[in-house]
Formats: sequence, C-alpha cells, structure tokens
Amino acid sequence: MTKMLSVRDLHIGFGAGRTRVHAVRGVSFDVRKGRVLGVVGESGSGKSTVGRAIAGLLSPDSGTVSIDGVSVTAQQGLSRSERARQVQMVFQDPYSSLNPKMTVSEAIQEGLRNQPGFDRRAWPARRDELLDLVRLPRSAAPLLPRELSGGMRQRVCIARALAVEPRLLVADEITSSLDASVQGAVLNLIDEIRERTSITMVFISHNLAVVRYVSDEIVVMQRGEVVESGETETLLRSPQNEYTRSLLRAIPRLPSPRRQEGR
Ligand SMILES: Nc1ncnc2c1ncn2[C@@H]1O[C@H](COP(=O)(O)OP(=O)(O)OP(=O)(O)O)[C@@H](O)[C@H]1O
Ligand SMILES: [Mg+2]
Repeated sequence: MTKMLSVRDLHIGFGAGRTRVHAVRGVSFDVRKGRVLGVVGESGSGKSTVGRAIAGLLSPDSGTVSIDGVSVTAQQGLSRSERARQVQMVFQDPYSSLNPKMTVSEAIQEGLRNQPGFDRRAWPARRDELLDLVRLPRSAAPLLPRELSGGMRQRVCIARALAVEPRLLVADEITSSLDASVQGAVLNLIDEIRERTSITMVFISHNLAVVRYVSDEIVVMQRGEVVESGETETLLRSPQNEYTRSLLRAIPRLPSPRRQEGR
C-alpha cells in the first residue's frame, strides 16, 4: 500500500499577463507501487502538463511531486542518470521520438549508456531481453525507424524507457497515433509488462475506453482540475460527476473489463 508517487496541489501556468494560461490548478493524487493510474480528460485539460511535471520536464509554479518520498521538483541534486532511473516518459508520436539515424538496438541502448555499470559485453543479451519484453522480434535490432510500422516504433520507445528500469513510467497518449487494431495490441503489451515487471505507471489519454482498459484507478481532469477520481470499476459503475458521465456516454461500446478490482 506504499505511496510511490505523490502529487500535491500542483499549479502550472504558461505565459504572462493577459495571455497567461493557468493549465493546472491544484491537482493532487497518489499512486501506489505497482499500480496504473489513468489520467483522462478532454484536450487542453492539463493532462500532458501534469505528466511532464511528474517526469521533471517542467517545474510547477507551486505544489510538489514526490517519488518514494523524494521531491522531483527538488531533484536538482540528482544526476541525469539517477533521475532517469526514477521516471521515464513515453509520448504520442513514436516517429518524432526516435532518431531516424539510430537503429532499434542503438535507440534502446541510448539511455543505458550513461548509467553507471553499463556493461557493453552484456548488452546483446540485455537487448534481446528488452525486445522480448515489448514483443519485438530480435531480428528488428539492426533496423531503422523508417523500416518499422507505427506500432513497432512505439514498442521501441517503450523498450528504451524500460531499459533503465525506472521506478515510474509516464505514458502520454501512447496509442493515440496508432491504428485502432494496433492500439489494442499496445494496450495488451502494457498489461503484460505490468505482469512481468513491478513498474508503476501514469497512463494519460483523452480516451476513457483506452484508460479504463489498463488502469487500476482513474483521475478525471477538466480545465486543469481533478473533477473525479477513484478505483476504475467503481468510478465507471457510479460516476458522481456530470463530466465523467459525459465521457462515459461518449464511449460507443464498453467491452467487459478484463481485470477485476483490487489488482
Ligand atoms: N508550452 C506551453 N506553452 C503555452 N501553453 C501551453 C503549453 N503547454 C500547454 N499549454 C496550454 O496548457 C493547457 C493544457 O495543455 P495540455 O497539453 O496539458 O493538455 P492535454 O490535456 O494534454 O490536452 P491534449 O489531450 O490535447 O493532449 C492548454 O490550454 C494548452 O494550450
Ligand atoms: Mg496532452
């Protein structure tokens, strides 16, 4: 039941004066170790901004983000490699996240090379392990991003993020640029990865159908605020907030949940 991630009263704005956008307004939530928290809400509701603050990619105006009790916002003391092992982020567009000149193997190795104790001789075995984990064929190792499908590229990005064995993974719309058929496969992969690692995850999507599929708990955001949160099945069974109800109504057909509560 230990809290792994704790977000407290986060406020984040962009710009100044009359053009200032108060993107995140007092957001708080916790995620326990090994759990997946889904963050859902319409475009512009502040999901990515919260995700980037958790990943330490932007500093909040006020409020705190802590991972295992250590403030991410006060992590200036941490080296890059230490920070990388705390939290990794995967984004929507795998093509722009990958260097077109780097092979799959090089891309996955990229973040690992700065880690102390990186063992070049052990790399081929580790690479195969990571390719297996994201269900990519080992023969994909020497390929370039343009030789891969969108779904395969996203698997490379996930493998790269997992390579350093981060305590927390922030996934921001990672299925949104993929074809519907491939989306399901990537969601299944997330489920499998949870089963085989002890990863804790913040899974962001504007699509409640996608979020419900992978999340133990859900936070609903609207205009920079959390309007409702709770265990996935409870929240979907009896949504208290009108905005949550409208998101539910927008899902054409709810597949029966694959996971029971309490996992
Ligand atoms: N770097 C930035 N500079 C200025 N405004 C920004 C910046 N990043 C985000 N915003 C604004 O902050 C608000 C929240 O944006 P954010 O990207 O967090 O929303 P989101 O929920 O992730 O939306 P989407 O579903 O479209 O990804 C929006 O009004 C957006 O225009
Ligand atoms: Mg976003």
